[in-house]
Amino acid sequence: MTIFKKAKQLSNYIDQQKKEGKKIGFVPTMGALHNGHLHLIDTCKKLNDITVCSIFVNPTQFNNSDDFKNYPVTISKDIEQLISHQCDVLFLPSVEEMYPADFVKKEYALGEIENRLEGHYRPGHFQGVCQAVDRLLQIVQPDNLYMGQKDYQQCMVIRKLLELTGREQSTGLSIVSTVREADGLAMSSRNLRLDEEQRKRAASIFNELNFIKEHIQDHSLEELKKNASERLTRKGFKVDYVEIANAEDLSIANNTAGKLVALAAATTGNVRLIDNIVLN
Ligand code: PAF
Repeated sequence: MTIFKKAKQLSNYIDQQKKEGKKIGFVPTMGALHNGHLHLIDTCKKLNDITVCSIFVNPTQFNNSDDFKNYPVTISKDIEQLISHQCDVLFLPSVEEMYPADFVKKEYALGEIENRLEGHYRPGHFQGVCQAVDRLLQIVQPDNLYMGQKDYQQCMVIRKLLELTGREQSTGLSIVSTVREADGLAMSSRNLRLDEEQRKRAASIFNELNFIKEHIQDHSLEELKKNASERLTRKGFKVDYVEIANAEDLSIANNTAGKLVALAAATTGNVRLIDNIVLN
């Protein structure tokens, strides 16, 4: 695996590969890699000639400075895992490399999706995500981009970003299903920060989403959301939301028509977890 720390060197390498007709697949990450990320790498490898992974803990997408300070960093282990999954290229830029002095901050017109759910609880988060991903896409110029369904809303935001930046023809977005622990907990880098008790409790989020899926036809949506939220609260979670939304735009669903997704965000200890499942 070749490691690039400089944007220019990576884009020169990519230019060369593209001249040779190679297909470039890209998996952007913030490191602390787990099986969910490795599944993205494996999926990318099957369909592309060159698999590029980036590790960059992007400061501009953290609306909570403690969350940024405590974000797990496990670079040596990440590199070992990427090598064992035959990743071809790792981009490991510094903050200065990503955002040089002449970097011009853009405002992305993401529309309603920016302010719903995660956007409401993490103001500015999706602008920060777009800033990083836009810059990474300029450097990597991928034919295919791979993102995890665990961050459902982020996937929708990135789809909008591709449209806003005129890349929807040149870069295909593949949303890869969430990888879960044996008890259903969605894999996430933040799980590393859970203590034993919190870790046991954390699977309740998935259980509640699953309960909603199983009972969507026999209870009202309001009742399902309220009960799930109350049960999580009784288990000691601080619940930001349990919501049932239209899968296309994350507007709140008021009936079971069309494709729906149940989403939740809740904090245990000081670790905020999110998850979602598609309902139909
Ligand atoms: O999902 C993540 O790890 C990050 O939000 C991303 C897409 C790498 C942008 O910093």
